[in-house]
Amino acid sequence: MTVENRKRVAVMASGRGSNFEALCRGDTGLGEVVLLISDRKDARVLERASDLKVRSMVIDPGSYRTRMGIPEEEECARMMTEEGIDLVCLAGFMRMLKGPILEAFERRIMNIHPALLPAFPGLEAQRQALEYGVKYSGCTVHYVDAGMDTGPIILQSAVEVLDDDTVTSLSARILEREHVTYPRAVKLHCAGKLRVEGRKVRILRQGS
Ligand code: GRF
Repeated sequence: MTVENRKRVAVMASGRGSNFEALCRGDTGLGEVVLLISDRKDARVLERASDLKVRSMVIDPGSYRTRMGIPEEEECARMMTEEGIDLVCLAGFMRMLKGPILEAFERRIMNIHPALLPAFPGLEAQRQALEYGVKYSGCTVHYVDAGMDTGPIILQSAVEVLDDDTVTSLSARILEREHVTYPRAVKLHCAGKLRVEGRKVRILRQGS
């Protein structure tokens, strides 16, 4: 792999960071995680970044609780552009993006969600699925738009919901799938194999 065709990936995360670690350790092909950005200085993901020797920074998210402030988002977009970031992966980043990052990285931002979208968007997706009584749930990797978990779907992986599942047991089985599915989506994106056509993301096969 030459340096020129490598893709620089930034991960934005607020918490535990297991997906961040999966993206660092997994097969992401041409994608290389070079930066971890957190909005919380006490996030466990920062320790993982240090253990994995990935540069990290804590950003000021502004004064809102569930989204980035516009000037703060502008600053973060500018910084990632200067860093030559090709792809932004949200991995348990607990704030909505509202403008500047979406504009600067259009179709170059992904998110992972612990349900089969469009079912159960938003918080506590695993609990929502259990309470609804679905027989299958899973995870979804999608491109990010201004909505809540509404962007075009790249990959999904289904998990059976068992009669005796709890939120903890179902979350754990879904998380295992997340750790495989997210690196796969990044690899496809970085290889230029994803084409967004309206709501649909086409995966280009050899020769197509
Ligand atoms: C994952 O379940 C992910 O799907 C959701 O937030 C959780 C983050 O977990 N968006 P981790 O911080 O990657 O361990």
